[in-house]
Amino acid sequence: MILVVHGPNLNLLGVREPDVYGTTTLEDINQKLSNEASEMGIELESFQSNSEGEIVDQVQRGVSEEVEGIIINPGALTHYSIALRDALAALDIPIIEVHLSNIYKREKFRHKSVTAPVVTGQISGLGADGYYLALEKISNL
Ligand code: DQA
Repeated sequence: MILVVHGPNLNLLGVREPDVYGTTTLEDINQKLSNEASEMGIELESFQSNSEGEIVDQVQRGVSEEVEGIIINPGALTHYSIALRDALAALDIPIIEVHLSNIYKREKFRHKSVTAPVVTGQISGLGADGYYLALEKISNL
């Protein structure tokens, strides 16, 4: 099973700064991901939370055999959550970090990802397509 984890404020996609994050809602993204996954014969589960602890709990599911890969947009946790970084570092499965916006083109505080060094790869700045590309790739990592 592929686990998709969306961090804080991503539940507001569609209404939240549409000029930065686009008008696609989180529901649209999750629906398209699950359609594509079933076409590919992949089991997929999506989860969103505004709480760091709940995100860490979900990531920790990656130690079980059930979870074969994680696609994660940690939202603002990207820039400061050592707890999330440590949880990701504990795993031995493919992990793709996705950002809708290009974090390197924005405010300086977004340029640093504390999670990027412990994931397999990162997609930043391709909008919602970043998630679909991550899904296409994750089973071949
Ligand atoms: C984000 C970028 C982060 O800096 C921001 O805090 C988010 C969304 C993105 O998808 O572009 O919440 O992860």
